[in-house]
Amino acid sequence: MGRTFKRLLLLAAVLCTSIVLVACGTKTDNTNGASQTNTDGKKKLIVGTDATYAPMEYMDAKGNIVGIDIDIVNAIAEAAGFEVEYKNYGWEPLFPALDNEEIDFAVSSITIDEERKQSFDFSDPYFIANQLILVQESSDVASFNDLKDKKVSVQINTTGHKAVKKLLGKTNKNIVAAETMPLAISEMINGNADAAVGDNAVVIEYKVNNPKVKLKTVEDDSFEKEYYGLMVKKGNQEIVDLLNDGIKKIKENGKLKEITGFDVE
Ligand code: ARG
Repeated sequence: MGRTFKRLLLLAAVLCTSIVLVACGTKTDNTNGASQTNTDGKKKLIVGTDATYAPMEYMDAKGNIVGIDIDIVNAIAEAAGFEVEYKNYGWEPLFPALDNEEIDFAVSSITIDEERKQSFDFSDPYFIANQLILVQESSDVASFNDLKDKKVSVQINTTGHKAVKKLLGKTNKNIVAAETMPLAISEMINGNADAAVGDNAVVIEYKVNNPKVKLKTVEDDSFEKEYYGLMVKKGNQEIVDLLNDGIKKIKENGKLKEITGFDVE
């Protein structure tokens, strides 16, 4: 009797294990990130962004996430055969969202830099940019070096922030680090900073869209070329390969140049 009972127990254990295995089996299309597979067999990737960055990624009047980066990612997705769903995270929360696998990748005019490469993986570059200074039209600022003893606003933890820390010193109280780029620019317009520093496309767009505020841009050759990439959780090679496949295709078929107006080597 005792023996039969033991057998029954063993059988139950085996059955339970296989039930668990079956349950796991149905989830295998969900490994590595937030992606799901649609009924038509296409992968749907969840894409995080900071939609405060016109013309690159921003909210249109209807609340849709739009912009040049979005057009590029849509083209990449079409070329590589996957679907996308955009989620607006804001800038700083993007990084933990990747680590926590809430999103499969991030698009946000993110510069591929050595420091970030320690903690994240990047696609191949798809866009070239550089920093640009924005000041009041009456300002005497003529170069980046002129900002040394001035108050400078930036978006926190961006390459602009890094460049300004390098010039002014890491802990300099004259650095105004705002949550978003539009807020950084407001600080300058309101007189809380003498200059704002940020990515060229975004600085130019702001100036063009706000002609009533008398602003001017100041270029400086000392700003390095920056290459934007799509950012992926460290080690998620599957997504990097998929994105690079799409990027390669839209570079080859001219779609990327059609969107941005220039070639990226
Ligand atoms: N290119 C800069 C960087 O990578 C700024 C990017 C900010 N992007 C944004 N959507 N706020 O640091």
